[in-house]
Amino acid sequence: MLFPEGVAIDGKTGEVTPSTSRYSKKLSDLRGFFHDPKALESKIAQEGDATVYEVIDYRHEESDLAFGTTIMWPGKVGEEYYLTRGHFHVRRECGEAYYTQSGAGLLLLESREGETRTVDMKPGVCTFIPPDWAHRSINTGPEKLIFTWFCATDAGHEYGEIQKRGMRKLVIDQDGKSVLADNPNYAG
Ligand code: PA5
Ligand code: NI
Repeated sequence: MLFPEGVAIDGKTGEVTPSTSRYSKKLSDLRGFFHDPKALESKIAQEGDATVYEVIDYRHEESDLAFGTTIMWPGKVGEEYYLTRGHFHVRRECGEAYYTQSGAGLLLLESREGETRTVDMKPGVCTFIPPDWAHRSINTGPEKLIFTWFCATDAGHEYGEIQKRGMRKLVIDQDGKSVLADNPNYAG
């Protein structure tokens, strides 16, 4: 049986206490996701295999609701800002909410029909992700981007499509500003 409990979420570090699981992704885990593979390899060679993001979960399979935090380090590969893999949910009727606690970023979303939208991620903003929109978080700021997400426990992550074809748009640094650009490698 599950019992109620208070879960502490530290908006400055992203720590979740108690948590049920965690994982992190390094630069080398994100091969194929950044648009400039050469820039990625030279960054790994020169600076090492840095962590790009960490996800900390509070999740009980017996419950319909799960939540947790994603902590994204600041950085770029070439001119492209650090990003998450991006996914649709396996259960297409499942949306999600992202509540940003620290840092600054952009949520890049793409519908099945190919429409692109972005939502600014900044402290205090809760982003509504409608069902069946692919979503990728991008840290466009100089600090860690930390957000808490709330989702159906069994929504599932479908990575294959975005991994295979990419997203239509990229978020790049142009003279210190984050700009939405066409993805030259988009293979849809
Ligand atoms: O469920 C979500 O949307 C988030 O918890 C993401 O999984 C998390 O931000 C990491 O991104 P991705 O799963 O696209 O690598
Ligand atoms: Ni999701």
